[in-house]
Amino acid sequence: MKIFLDTANLDELRRGADWGIVDGVTTNPSLIAKEGRPIEEQIARICDIIDGDISAEVVATEYEHMVSEGRKLAKIHKHIVVKLPLIRDGIKACKTLSGEGIRTNVTLCFTAAQALLAAKAGAYIISPFVGRLDDIGLTGMDLIRSIAKIYSNYGFKTQILSASLRSTLHVVESAEAGAHIGTMPFKVVDMLFNHPLTDKGLEQFLKDHAKAFQSSGQ
Ligand code: E4P
Repeated sequence: MKIFLDTANLDELRRGADWGIVDGVTTNPSLIAKEGRPIEEQIARICDIIDGDISAEVVATEYEHMVSEGRKLAKIHKHIVVKLPLIRDGIKACKTLSGEGIRTNVTLCFTAAQALLAAKAGAYIISPFVGRLDDIGLTGMDLIRSIAKIYSNYGFKTQILSASLRSTLHVVESAEAGAHIGTMPFKVVDMLFNHPLTDKGLEQFLKDHAKAFQSSGQ
């Protein structure tokens, strides 16, 4: 499963890139707004840091405007994936932009029926929001499993991007469910590294090594 960082913060992206395990980035209007720069400028900076798919979301909600905004975003860099909300005009814009060879990420997906529409419209990526479904008392991961089954039944090429991930368990379960991509905040990627037995084991290895070799001057 590819790991994407769900942030528009350049410091977090630099730190993630430095580890060598970040495959791409997702942003949304809320994440861009937090950084205080116009979207085109912030996205261009992100493209300089991460060598992979970078999702940039339109803020228009009407078909013609979504398409023109999407075309403009796609011109920023060859790695741009245009993110469109899963509304009627968004699906229509997805069909148009996909037909022009512009890659799209259909976002705010909360049902398998919506995911089916996105795939039929030629979406490159579908983004089901796991955490936000958990927040309202549902099991978000069931949606990933259901979409994976439907896409596999019909051979859809749309990649499933498990979004709104809040924990390491979400990441592991997304991979088990067959998501192609998991997008997560920097702190969740950071947590993927951790296990107390790793730290304890390393401490013991280094102690044993030091005892055997440092006292004899080797
Ligand atoms: C990803 O594309 C979404 O914008 C993101 O994962 C939403 O996450 P949140 O529910 O934590 O805001």
